[in-house]
Amino acid sequence: MAASELNAIARSIVANDRGILAADESTGTITKRFDSIDVESTEPNRRAYRDLLFTAEGMEEYIGGVILFDETIRQQADDGTPFPTLLAAKGVVPGIKVDTGAHPLAGAPGETITEGLDGLRKRLGEYYELGARFAKWRATLSVGERLPSRYCVRVNAQALARYAALCQEAGIVPIVEPEVLMDTDHSIDDCYHATARTLQAVFSELGAQRVDLEGILLKPNMILPGKGNADQASPERIAAATLHCFRRHVPASVPGIVFLSGGQSEIEATVNLDTINRLDGRPWPLSFSYGRALQASALKAWMGAATGVEAAQTVFVHRARCNAAAAGGRYDAALETA
Ligand code: 13P
Repeated sequence: MAASELNAIARSIVANDRGILAADESTGTITKRFDSIDVESTEPNRRAYRDLLFTAEGMEEYIGGVILFDETIRQQADDGTPFPTLLAAKGVVPGIKVDTGAHPLAGAPGETITEGLDGLRKRLGEYYELGARFAKWRATLSVGERLPSRYCVRVNAQALARYAALCQEAGIVPIVEPEVLMDTDHSIDDCYHATARTLQAVFSELGAQRVDLEGILLKPNMILPGKGNADQASPERIAAATLHCFRRHVPASVPGIVFLSGGQSEIEATVNLDTINRLDGRPWPLSFSYGRALQASALKAWMGAATGVEAAQTVFVHRARCNAAAAGGRYDAALETA
């Protein structure tokens, strides 16, 4: 595949302030989400839930790509249309999560390495046939006393680059996702330094492994204090730290940065994205690739019932619209009640 085609796919996903719906929860993760609304995690229920998200009218105005899970990319809408075909017909690029999860890293207590490289070339070929044009691989890094370790950062960066090179060979845009987790009590400065070290290692490996930076999307965390830190920073401080960090570590040739929500509330994730996009000096489109921050209210409106489908779709499209406004630096709290 010509490099320019990968670049065109990446740019189309984030064009016109659109972002990504991360609907690639593994069976274990979606089961946790369903538990929270007391819905049994069966294959038909998982299919019905994804059906409501993907068929929501108007979502395509705000969503340029959807990340699917292995089970979901093989499923069909109520009318029998395969999900990837349905999405593509709406102008939404189908994507696929290809890592097989974060597992304990040998010799590094409390740290993980993301697995999934074995057989990846073959799986990418199959996913391409099923319609996937972009993929996702998520590495997770914990912040703490001497963490993340250089060892953990290095091996995760190497794996991300190996995955990205294989994706590009297969004609698939890799989303490179190194996530510095926000679930401890570290400060915003700790997050800044951990993210800076991680991005430096990731771009060094991407270069070493001949990945074309114009044919990737970066999916990072924002620069945030840990959930348990007493000093919860303002959106202005978060935005300034985030742009500062990414300007120093992400080449301008990267066609887009799509943030994960990572445990922020729906409104926090929208307001922080908007505040970042009101700053000057952004060489790349800065958009969203949210899972929880696009789905939390929709799940609650659905509650596993056919009677909840319409309300869930309305809430989901509303959040997508608010986040697209934030990607354009045009979000206004008044939109929430509009
Ligand atoms: P959250 O937005 O819920 O963090 O999920 C995004 C994602 O895809 C994490 O890999």
